Parts: sequence; C-alpha cells; structure tokens
Amino acid sequence: MCGIFGYAGEGVTSAVLVEGIRRLEYRGYDSWGLALACDDGIALLRRVGRIGSAEDTALDGCSCRAGVAHTRWATHGAPTEENAHPHRDCTGRIAVVHNGIIENHAALRARLQGLGHVFASETDTEVIPHLIEEMWKTEPDFGEAFLAAVRLLVGTFGIAVVQADAPDRLWAARLGSPMVLGLGKGRTLLASDPAPLVAHTREVIYLDDGEIAVLTSDGFETRTLEGGTVTKPVQRIAFDLPAIERGGFPHFMLKEIHEQPESLRNAFRGRIVRAEGTAKLGGVEPHLLRSAKRCHIVSCGTSLNAGLIGKYLLEQLARLPTQVSNGAEFRYAQPVVEPDTLVIAISQSGETADTLGAVREAKMQGASAVGICNVVGSTIARECGQGVYIHAGPEIGVASTKAFTSQLVVLALLAVHLGRMRGLSLRAGLQYLDAIECLPAQAARILERESELAEMAGLLARASHVLYCGRLYEWPAALEGALKLKEISYIHAEGVQAAELKHGPIALVEPDVPVVVLAAQAAVRAKTLGNIHEIRARGGRVIALIREGDGEAAALAERSFAVPSTLDPLLPVLEAIPLQLLAYHAAVALGRDVDHPRNLAKSVTVE
Ligand code: AGP
Repeated sequence: MCGIFGYAGEGVTSAVLVEGIRRLEYRGYDSWGLALACDDGIALLRRVGRIGSAEDTALDGCSCRAGVAHTRWATHGAPTEENAHPHRDCTGRIAVVHNGIIENHAALRARLQGLGHVFASETDTEVIPHLIEEMWKTEPDFGEAFLAAVRLLVGTFGIAVVQADAPDRLWAARLGSPMVLGLGKGRTLLASDPAPLVAHTREVIYLDDGEIAVLTSDGFETRTLEGGTVTKPVQRIAFDLPAIERGGFPHFMLKEIHEQPESLRNAFRGRIVRAEGTAKLGGVEPHLLRSAKRCHIVSCGTSLNAGLIGKYLLEQLARLPTQVSNGAEFRYAQPVVEPDTLVIAISQSGETADTLGAVREAKMQGASAVGICNVVGSTIARECGQGVYIHAGPEIGVASTKAFTSQLVVLALLAVHLGRMRGLSLRAGLQYLDAIECLPAQAARILERESELAEMAGLLARASHVLYCGRLYEWPAALEGALKLKEISYIHAEGVQAAELKHGPIALVEPDVPVVVLAAQAAVRAKTLGNIHEIRARGGRVIALIREGDGEAAALAERSFAVPSTLDPLLPVLEAIPLQLLAYHAAVALGRDVDHPRNLAKSVTVE
C-alpha cells in the first residue's frame, strides 16, 4: 500500500525525504514523489517506477524546513506522473500526500469543479488540496481550513500536507490509514509505519482515527476532528535499523525465514506456565475467554490460513465451536454474532482493511474482539482493545513467513489456555507446552537442510501448475504452501484437501505435474499415503513432507523431506518452513523480485 514520510525541521532536502520513503518500499508501490515547502513556494518532484538514486532526485539548492514524500500503490488512476503524489491545489502552494481511499471523491470533485477548480489527475486524492484551498478562502487560519476540509472527507485516509505560506510546518490527519509521529531533536517526523523513523528517533506517538496533528521542528500538537485537544502517550520503537536491513541475506524473505527459530521463541517467551500446564496471555481479559460460547476468526491471506489451523486447535483442545471467515466475507455475509461470540482478528500488519472492517462489524454487533497481530500499536490491535502480539519483529518481505509460524504458536497457546479452562487435562496441557518449546530447535534443524529444498525447488520452477494437498491441520498448511509459491514465483499453484482429490482435483494430475503432499500427521497417515499412490499412478511427481523416520513414506514419494516429530496440531509450524524455502528457491530460480512481487503489497489497507 501507499507510504507516507514527512519531516519538519531545519535542512530538509529531497535526499532526506527519499531516504525516508526508501524505508517504505517494501509496502509495494508503482510511483513516488516529494514536495518541499521553501520560502519561495513548493518544490515538487514525481516519478513513475522505483525510487532512483538521490542524484536524480535532488531539487537544486532546496533546503527547507518542511517536506513530505510518498510511495503510491495505484487504486484510482493508472501509475503515471500526473497521478503520483504529492497533489497540489490551483495555486500550487498546497501539496498533499495521502494513503487510503476517499469514497466521496467524485461528488467533491464535481462540487469543486463547479467552483472553478481545475484538476490535473484521475486520483481521488487530488480533491484534498483543492478542498483545503476552498476552505481557506473563508477561514483565515490554515489549520482550521485543513480541519474543515478533512471533516468533509468520507473514506479512509492518512494525509500529510505542506503549504508555502507556512514553510516550517506540516499537517497530518488520520482516519483508517496508519500514521505514526517521530519525536527527534530539532525535528518532528511522520510516517505510515515506524521503519523510516528509526534512523532519526525511537520516541514515537501513534495517531488514532479521527485525529489531526501539526508538526514543527519543536514538536507537535494533536487534536480530534471535532476540535478537542488530545494528549498522546509517547512509545518507544523496539527494533533498530539493522533489524530492518537485510542482514547479509539476499532478500528480506530469506532473512525472515531464517529468523524463525528466534521468532518462534519470542512468540511463547514468558507465556508458558508449567505449574498449571497452561499459557499466560496477559493481553486478554480472562472473563472474556471464560464466557465465550463460540469463536469466529477473521483474517485474510496467510493469516486466513493460520486461522483455519486455529479452528482445529480451538475445537480440538478447547472444544470451542469455531468458524473462520475472510475479513471481507464476514463483514458482508451477516454472520451470527452474539455477545458471547469471541471474535479473533489475525493480522501481521494490523492494518488490513478487510480484517479491520470485520472487527468493527463484530463490535457493532456486541461481540468482543481479540487481536493476534505483529505490529505493535497497529489499528487492528488498538481497535480490538485486547489481544496477543506475536513479537515476530518487522516482517519486510511481502510474502509472510515468520509471522505465519508465530501466529500458529500464539493460536496454540490460546487453545491450551482456553482448553485448560474447559477440560483439557494438565498432562495434555504440559504435552503441548513441551512440544511448543521444542519448535525453535526443530526449526533450526530444518533450516540447516535448506540446500535439499533448493534442489527440489527446481522441480517446481520448471512447472506451469503445482498442486499442494493435505488433510486436517495439513490442509491449511497446503493452502499456505500454494500461496507462497504463486505469490512470489507467479507459478499457478492450488492447495486442496487430500480427501477431495478423488472428487475432482486429481483430474489435474498427469505426467510431470508436481504435487506437494503433506503427509507427516500420524492421525491420517494411511489415508494420505493412499493419496500418494493415486497421484504417482497417474504420473504425478510427488514431493512429500513426512515425519522423521517414516521410511515407508520416503520410499513411496519421488522426493521427500522429513520434518522433526511433534504433535500433529503443531506440524504446520515445522512444515511451513520447507514450503517457504521451496517457494523462495523456485522464485529465485525464475529471477523473480522476491521481496516485491508484482501486483502485491505488504499491507492491503484498502478493501
Ligand atoms: C501473505 O504472504 C500475503 N502477503 C497476504 O496474503 C497477507 O497475508 C494478507 O494480505 C493479510 O495480511 P495481514 O496478516 O497483515 O492482515
């Protein structure tokens, strides 16, 4: 999604602004631009494509005291220079960058054109500077004119504005798209997420929906859209710049795959209570869990696959009836939601619009929501009001990897916690806790054998279509394996329930079609080995993920990769890693832009 970076303070140049939005590249974009508020007006630069070197972006001699920059992921209007942000008003003295969608932009554009405003782009965003300009004609205070204009906007936005008549400050507003302020020495910054701020400061404040701010070199002031003042707590960014750098790996995605022993440890650190065979989840009110009669998980993409595994965990360990919905589906399907429905929103970014919409819908219907998020202070985390952070650290690669396995660990801890309230024995609880504590070392053992998977990936890289299949817990894991392959290698891949093969998908199997079979679960091993027989009988090329020591399965498959033994419900945590590496190496073999796959964004903050 779009990225915003703003800077109020001495010595703002285009190079400073470009460095800021470079830290946001991972969000996905197709054009970019910047604006500097100089004493003689607004200096503006816009480009299509990727951010170039600072040399071709320097605005001659411009060193100012306020500037904004933007990376655009096109939603309204093609990725062209005219549609790139910043957008200006008729006078050219107000420049605006925006993240989100202005839903009433057509009506506003028509009204402003009727008043004589001339538009230069196809974007929804361009109504903002013209609206501010119009409000400023009758409201002498620019800040008030800005507030009046923002009040007329319907939709979602994170906005940053500079204007030539006050070149030492910038204005910001937030409704539905994240905005975080950085408090530096002699400078105040703002950005769509903390990554660009870390080079300047660790002290931040998160704007909430319906708040605006004005930033100068001395600091900031915040108000609500209704005009009231609001004080914001200062928070400290936990990760440093190196954490954001690639750390010697060729891609963020590979770095994050290899971080999983550590990220898995962080997911359960401080949360295991052996004395009671349960998990401690401080961020969730106990009575809410105790009173829950059913659960509804809402999420998207990889987080939806995690949710499907969460369903099995909650029903099998806690006997809690659980449904799983894509966030958008939930919002428009009129689900049955009651006060004793526990809604769990799973989101790495904590900003996915469809999942956020589902949370708001659930709360509107009287349910309580619990967030399982990675980004601290993210919108979904804050709007749920309670939840469990997965502590996976910044996940920069567009394809989610370590966040997925940490989501599974947190879901397992939640299932044990709820289970121990609802009849799960101490012995069973301890069994799960022991197995969870073994996962980091087991993950490390898998990562040591990466070269085996890199070699197997060649089989996938040469294919046009790949099938993934599994049963029970391994079915959502198969969906995730297929999602990983298609989103970074662009090879068509489909995840299916192995039990469904004979009901249709096996028609896709012909000589040389690779089929990745997840066959490590003990509970359904015989049935899944039967699937391998069926596939091989039709010439399918089977790569099987099997449990360590299963010689029969190894002999049956054309290629196999053994994962360390653990409880069936926890196998997807370990099987995800070879699936991630197979997809990664297939994509690299095909020369794909692994960290910035085409058409995709790291955080889908529009519906
Ligand atoms: C996963 O690899 C994709 N990047 C995408 O499906 C992602 O999982 C989905 O957009 C949900 O994102 P979230 O977890 O941040 O809500």
